[in-house]
Amino acid sequence: MVATDLEETQTDHEHVGYDRYKELKLLDDTKAGVKGLVDAGLSKLPKIFVRDSHELNISSSSSSSCAANFSIPVIDLGSLHKEGNSRHEIIQKVKEACEKWGFFQVVNHDIPESVLDEMLDGVRRFHEQDVEVKREFYSRDTTKRVFYNTNLNLYTAKEVNWKDTLYCVLAPGSLDPHQLPSICRDITIEYSDHVKKLSLTLLELLSEALGLESTYLKDIDCAKGVFMVGHYYPPCPEPELTWGLSGHTDSTFLTVLLQDQVGGLQVFHENQWLDITPIPGAFIINIGDMMQVITNDKFISAKHRVLAQKLGPRVSVACFLRQHIEDESPRTYGPIKELLTDENPAIYREINVTDLAKLIYTTKLDDDVSGLKHFRL
Ligand code: OGA
Ligand code: NI
Repeated sequence: MVATDLEETQTDHEHVGYDRYKELKLLDDTKAGVKGLVDAGLSKLPKIFVRDSHELNISSSSSSSCAANFSIPVIDLGSLHKEGNSRHEIIQKVKEACEKWGFFQVVNHDIPESVLDEMLDGVRRFHEQDVEVKREFYSRDTTKRVFYNTNLNLYTAKEVNWKDTLYCVLAPGSLDPHQLPSICRDITIEYSDHVKKLSLTLLELLSEALGLESTYLKDIDCAKGVFMVGHYYPPCPEPELTWGLSGHTDSTFLTVLLQDQVGGLQVFHENQWLDITPIPGAFIINIGDMMQVITNDKFISAKHRVLAQKLGPRVSVACFLRQHIEDESPRTYGPIKELLTDENPAIYREINVTDLAKLIYTTKLDDDVSGLKHFRL
């Protein structure tokens, strides 16, 4: 995958000039990521990071208009197992959040806050450790279960994002703990066990919110693949010129995201970008493209992004419920038959995660349109 990626990109960029490719390659070859640039005292942004002026205009008019009291729903899972109507009420809230926002936060989820804090700290420690140790993990080989790099789509994306990432395939199969960086090994194992359990609970709630048996989404293997990423967004000298993470939708069934208290994450909702304000101890849950396909657009995969900021670092950890893109026989998914009627016919063809990943990583997607339009019938 690595070699072909580079070759493709080389020809791709020829008409723009060779310099961009050279700059990307230089950054890649340092194996020190964006953090390496910051550590070297960089004060002006290299061109490869600069986003286009069309986007600059959009963001300056919209990011400042974030209504403080208009935000994604916060759902308290504390009473999930209590007697009475509380489970039903929670499911109603989940349903509404998935239909209207594609995003919500959960609190009282039973995972100790100390585990969340230690996970965020573990990711920070990984990125801030001795660069020689970190370099051992640097790779673009997505067949590896554990690796780190800057910008997975470095050579294909329109602009480079101001962040570095540690990747880890948690499922299917079991991960040999020794593959994990020792600096965050124990907490990664503990955290991922907790998040896998929480994910199953969430899939039950989503199944019921769709009017299906509670085990439906688990039974069709929505939780079979779990991919974890630990993002590190270094402080940025010229934050208005670039993105922490460009606007995108997730290719997942579901994403379980943990962010620290720095902020900068935004969701696109009803034609405006809204801040997702950090809540200590909360997880952000969002619907991904695969879920939008199987629910036939009932649940929406909303666009989101992370602003680059002067202050930092910002750390976040995302667990993606999605089959691994290197899976040799990826399962095919289309809209769930039980949800279809004459009035609500299937609007997507059957797709698998490889189709989706190919689209995301090799095509320069039109910013304002979801990649899913390519799979509409
Ligand atoms: C992602 C993502 C948001 C964040 O990794 O897909 O949207 O806060 N991350 O880092
Ligand atoms: Ni995302």
